[in-house]
Amino acid sequence: MRETILRELAENNTLLSPGAWEYLDTLDDPVSIVQEMVRTSTDLPFPVGRDVLVPFVEAKRPSRKEKTPDVRPPSIKTHEVKIRSDITGNSTCTGELSDFTNHFMDRYNKLKTILIRRREAKGILNINNVVKRKGEARIIAMIGDVSTTSNGNISLTLEDPTGHIRGFISSESGAYSTDLLEDEVVIAVGKVWEKKKSFDTTFAINEIIRPGVPRSVVKRSTDVQGKIAFIGDIHIGSKTFLKDSWERFLSWMESGENGSSEIGYLIIAGDLIDGIGIYPNQEDELEIKDIYEQYRVLGKMLRRIPSHVQIVAIPGNHDIVRNMEPQPSLPKNVQDLFPDNVIFCGNPSMIHIGGIKILMYHGGSINDLSDMLSSVDTDQPCTAMKEMLERRHLVPVYGKKTPIAPEKEDMLVINDVPDIFVTGHMHKTDVMQHYNTLLINASTWQDQTDYQKMRDIQPDPAYVIIYDPVLNQVDKKKC
Ligand SMILES: [Fe+2]
Repeated sequence: MRETILRELAENNTLLSPGAWEYLDTLDDPVSIVQEMVRTSTDLPFPVGRDVLVPFVEAKRPSRKEKTPDVRPPSIKTHEVKIRSDITGNSTCTGELSDFTNHFMDRYNKLKTILIRRREAKGILNINNVVKRKGEARIIAMIGDVSTTSNGNISLTLEDPTGHIRGFISSESGAYSTDLLEDEVVIAVGKVWEKKKSFDTTFAINEIIRPGVPRSVVKRSTDVQGKIAFIGDIHIGSKTFLKDSWERFLSWMESGENGSSEIGYLIIAGDLIDGIGIYPNQEDELEIKDIYEQYRVLGKMLRRIPSHVQIVAIPGNHDIVRNMEPQPSLPKNVQDLFPDNVIFCGNPSMIHIGGIKILMYHGGSINDLSDMLSSVDTDQPCTAMKEMLERRHLVPVYGKKTPIAPEKEDMLVINDVPDIFVTGHMHKTDVMQHYNTLLINASTWQDQTDYQKMRDIQPDPAYVIIYDPVLNQVDKKKC
């Protein structure tokens, strides 16, 4: 390739500057670009720098308005994808202390609204009333300061907008559990012990009830015809991006064969690109070092997917938006690099396809949950998603590795129980049913990175997970 380019340029009495070579290396078909440049330009400078090459390439790019060629007529009728909840355009936080107060108050109120519907909420009292009395009581409280005492009991604080009380769970109590997380909101049932010399008024807890999800199985029927495909963590730009597997996926989608003509929707669970500066020395692991070029390359690839397939994409921690959750959708200048059939929304977002409710979340909190809960296995990220659903919150604990933006409205609360809940981030392929919700962790298109090697994480790449709404069945396709 280099020789051809050098020869073309030499015949026109010029060559490329080092910067122009570096840029050319990031492009898909550098030889044709140089050939076209020498053919159409009459007076090339010596040397040809990045300042000449970049505008030339930019002018050749397809615009968002350019239609994706459709190789076949759609055999299915697709529904409109409706975005039901998304931070994009609704961010209000300024980083003030009052933002945090409002944020946690909103979290408490939203989770209380869910808890109050439970039969166990009958007879709930405010904490300011509970501290004045003796005997049995039940409260809806946010948990804080969880610790284990020297006797193996659990000490914690319980708080609601009216006050707080010290809580205690004996290691002999039925409520004893090591999976209590700070900041989760629960119904606590127990007995008030009066203030004595050596300790404050204490609430001895004998039962903890989480918001949870309905246990009765609801039969779902739908008129959605198209199958819904789930992918995630593409990581375009990384040296470990799995080009061959991705090519097999695109060729399959493009062909309309072996069932791909039945796909009506493609859901992408974040980390579209590898980004830049995400971790120290990432530069050494990048094949494309320009973040916009990474998006441009992906935009071009997605044009190969037939235009009737509705693609919905959220960002992840490698994308160009803020690294605090919730994240807004990709900016307009990046969206413009993609074909028209891509819908961009924030992380997280709730979308509806026909009557199917899909909660999309990149999955930043899965690592935190695996550090704190013995029930969570990083090889099976759905085990963490189950815990999020039971707590009805995507990032149940504040202040760990997942940065949270203290928005006035806590959009990380799971208000509505989804039919499908999809995450990525863990680079695993995992599917599980939790009561009425299908849980999916959507694989990756990146091979093991050095960072994963260091932490002994084995990715499970190159799978497409396909949900058939009519048969209510899930399939996995290896590419
Ligand atoms: Fe990722």
